[in-house]
Amino acid sequence: MCGIIAYSGKDNAVPYLVDGIKNLEYRGYDSFGCALIDKGNIIVRKDVGDTASVLNKYRIIKNFSNQGMFHTRWATHGGISKENAHPLTDCKGEIAVVHNGIIENWQDIKVSLDGHRFVSQTDTEVIPHLLEERLSRGDSMERALRAVFNEIKGASSFVVMRKGDSNMYAVKHGAPLVLGLGKNGFFVSSDIPSFLKYTNKVVFLHDGDLVVFNQNSVRIKNLLNKKDKHDVHTVDISPGSLDKGKYRHFMLKEINEQSKLLKSFENYDFSKVRLAASKIRSAHRVYLVGAGSSFHAAAYGALILRKSGIDAIAIQGQDIQNFSRLFERNDVFVIISQSGETADLIRSLQLMKGFRIGIINTEGSYLSRNVDLVINMMAGIEKAVAATKSFMNTMVLLEMINSYANGSSESAMHDLKLLNLNLYSLFVPSVLSAIKRIAEELKDDGDIFYVGRDYGYLISLEGALKMKEVSYIHAEAFDLSTIKHGPLALISQGSKVIAAVTEPVEETFYGLEEIKARGGHIIGISPSNSTVFDEFVHVPEAGVFSFVPLVIVAQLISYYTAVKRGINPDKPRNLAKSVTVN
Ligand code: F6R
Repeated sequence: MCGIIAYSGKDNAVPYLVDGIKNLEYRGYDSFGCALIDKGNIIVRKDVGDTASVLNKYRIIKNFSNQGMFHTRWATHGGISKENAHPLTDCKGEIAVVHNGIIENWQDIKVSLDGHRFVSQTDTEVIPHLLEERLSRGDSMERALRAVFNEIKGASSFVVMRKGDSNMYAVKHGAPLVLGLGKNGFFVSSDIPSFLKYTNKVVFLHDGDLVVFNQNSVRIKNLLNKKDKHDVHTVDISPGSLDKGKYRHFMLKEINEQSKLLKSFENYDFSKVRLAASKIRSAHRVYLVGAGSSFHAAAYGALILRKSGIDAIAIQGQDIQNFSRLFERNDVFVIISQSGETADLIRSLQLMKGFRIGIINTEGSYLSRNVDLVINMMAGIEKAVAATKSFMNTMVLLEMINSYANGSSESAMHDLKLLNLNLYSLFVPSVLSAIKRIAEELKDDGDIFYVGRDYGYLISLEGALKMKEVSYIHAEAFDLSTIKHGPLALISQGSKVIAAVTEPVEETFYGLEEIKARGGHIIGISPSNSTVFDEFVHVPEAGVFSFVPLVIVAQLISYYTAVKRGINPDKPRNLAKSVTVN
């Protein structure tokens, strides 16, 4: 959702913030704004558009300020407009606030702030006015912040600057916020990559933390009076992973990185995977939960576990509450999340009564700190909004958990090695040109169908989601075994149908023949060719890891379709990488 980065220190804040916000753009990019100090006053510059264009428009880089805060917005309350961009200020323009989250009771608060002049339609604007109100009654800033913290409802983290105050203030309330300890100053940010070039010393903040920081010092106080420790972590992420390198887009870079990541599983320490498998084996029932792509991985995980004779079921994040009365103490939950911050999952965490295993990519994220066992996805930083390598690594981990649970880990490892030997065949020029040709054919379509059976259907769900997200073409997945019960009515002459074939079994081809008979144009992604395919992308077979090449081809088709439509696939409209609001 929104991205925040703030700095206070001995150096000029501006270059740090300019650089840092670029690594937060994935969180939101409807509009950009900043607050800096100029001759003792707070100057606010903000506008609709991407960070670079607003920075250029207001020549922000020319400023010098020892403290400042930048914000990239993903609209929740109030349209995309200059007024609604952050920072929002009080009536006198002396208190500036940037915010990430949703204030659920903002309308009631606004009504109570009679006499205050509001200029935006945002929920955020109540914060500076509440502070103004409290300060005018003689409260200290910290007292005023405590009052605001107690008054607002919903996940809401924010940073405050005040005219004439050498301190900056950050409050963590649900939405992510981390503290970076630099050589000459302090960073507070929504995510570590924003300041990683300057420091890898990080404090993961807890809910209720108030951080008071200035050029010389930092202090953390918990507004919920919790006594949790604040250890300094040294984060082991190379700043090089934040660049696109030779690739045009992060999405393409991240798709390509998958070969290396898959190879690294050959030397992975599977001890936590084994522990997870043993918990799963003795569970009453296993619930796998996630949202979006993570839900697709969950559905895949549930299917393979069921095929191993384990009672397993996948639930979408927002549906957990509906299942909660069925939960028992000896259930096991597998919580899948790249960001570790997805609001649906966080909200329902307390309902999950049994042992909670997290498959999570982001170190220090809320979910990674609040489950019983964390299995790191090991996908590294994923910057493109669309999940690719994080999805793949999760699927591999689920397959390995399943193989340890059913006693076939050696054979799974053998399949993985075989896959790694053959995967190069996907990235050869002939396959890439076939994929680009398919993208060219799809780019002007209004509807694309993804079909498959069994595993192939779950891969199709992910393929269709990727296509929707980055190309904005309506794409829908259907289970070939049930297509006759309705979806077949959608097929007409020339309908584009992508078939994800994991196992070329007869039933799959019956369904495809039925589509073909109604004029469907079938693009097969499969280990073997068939007369039913109008076009064909050959993928290597790799036992239990046969999903890998199919997923890669689906990702590449979506990527190239987006690019051919002139869309930047790294930042699809309306989407944000961390969905921290419900
Ligand atoms: C798909 C995508 C989203 C996320 C979903 C869950 O490409 O990026 O559907 O998968 O928002 O996010 P995490 O995994 O961070 O919980």
